[in-house]
Amino acid sequence: MAHANDLVPSSSLTFSSTLLCLLHMLRTISFTTGQCTDPGMPDNGYFSSPASPVFPVAVNATLEYACNAGNTMYGDDVITCTETIWSNQVPLCTNLDNIALGRHTANQSSASAWAVNANVGVDGEYEDYTQTEAEYEPSWYLDLEGRYEVYKVLIGCKEKDSKFYDRQIGSVIRIGFNKDLKSNTQCGPTIDASMFADRFTNPIILDCGGPITGRYISVVREGITGKLSLGELEALGTGMCELDPGMPSNGHRVSADPTLPVYIGGQALLYECDDGYSMYGSSEVKCVAGSTWSSLPLCTDLENVALNKPTVMSSISSPSKTSEKGVDGDLTNYFITQWSDQSWWMVDLAGLYEVSYVYIKNRIGGDYRKYVIMCKTVNFFYLI
Ligand SMILES: *[C@@H]1O[C@H](CO)[C@@H](O)[C@H](O)[C@H]1NC(C)=O
Ligand SMILES: *[C@@H]1O[C@H](CO)[C@@H](O)[C@H](O)[C@H]1NC(C)=O
Repeated sequence: MAHANDLVPSSSLTFSSTLLCLLHMLRTISFTTGQCTDPGMPDNGYFSSPASPVFPVAVNATLEYACNAGNTMYGDDVITCTETIWSNQVPLCTNLDNIALGRHTANQSSASAWAVNANVGVDGEYEDYTQTEAEYEPSWYLDLEGRYEVYKVLIGCKEKDSKFYDRQIGSVIRIGFNKDLKSNTQCGPTIDASMFADRFTNPIILDCGGPITGRYISVVREGITGKLSLGELEALGTGMCELDPGMPSNGHRVSADPTLPVYIGGQALLYECDDGYSMYGSSEVKCVAGSTWSSLPLCTDLENVALNKPTVMSSISSPSKTSEKGVDGDLTNYFITQWSDQSWWMVDLAGLYEVSYVYIKNRIGGDYRKYVIMCKTVNFFYLI
């Protein structure tokens, strides 16, 4: 019996300490582990990993998104559950372009010594940044040099560092045609500290609530004194051509009049030259980047007096890219000099002429090099 009596308290002790331990674990878990609920799926996108997440998920769980074909992702593809909030907003999947990307027409109210180039705000990198001095209502703006419709704006800091977030708080993003930036239309809410979640969110995605039309996009810390720092701004939208491009002299349009505005990549207009005139340039005119039309073709009865005339150039880089390719009447081939300073090409017209137009066609496709001009020339001259 003594043996049995010994066993009873012993097993009770084991049971109760296990229970305590279990309760302690539950308590610990409930204090340290949060959960995140379904953040949703982007339009035109899906969960890629895991493909079918079960919500709520535990802290540190990640969700990876992907976009349907034909869409580009903006924002981060992976979001992480941090306590009860997601690290970032759900990314966007859209066929809209970042119309701000790579432009050289940004400016800011002032510049910190080590962050002087306002265009760094649209260079495609969140990790570098531009920044103003500390001042009242520091501002940054981009001139899109055309008429655009903006649907969403993404704005981000240099890195996940609170000092850079602090330098965006109070920012108002506006779009419009006024150079007085504060009179344009606001896109999304004013940036406030709560939008940075646990100071991890980058970028912040602002929905303009329908397209805002304008030429300037600005970020102004309205009513605030401090610095404005910008890692990157992405503006998702589309450009448009508002005016009819008109008719070329001695030519006419064969397609119907455009339904204005025409969006970039939209309806192309077709032209023909009047009888007795030859066309140089493309018969097709489209609304292109910068929201201007591509060039109207040239319709002329002038003679191309450079055709098959003797040519010479500073050097030859390839036996098949020789100087006479510039005036042989074939617009698909071209000449190339060697890489050197002050390369030149010349045609000898073998006579005295009065020049009205010089038509130069650049090489299409292939490896363009920035400092080498590879051209196809067609020259128009009056014979006198
Ligand atoms: C989440 O990850 C962080 C960093 O790796 C770690 O310190 C923390 O303990 C993790 N939390 C949980 C509940 O797993
Ligand atoms: C850029 O902004 C500065 C400061 O406001 C101004 O002085 C300067 O003229 C602006 N430059 C251009 C090209 O607009």
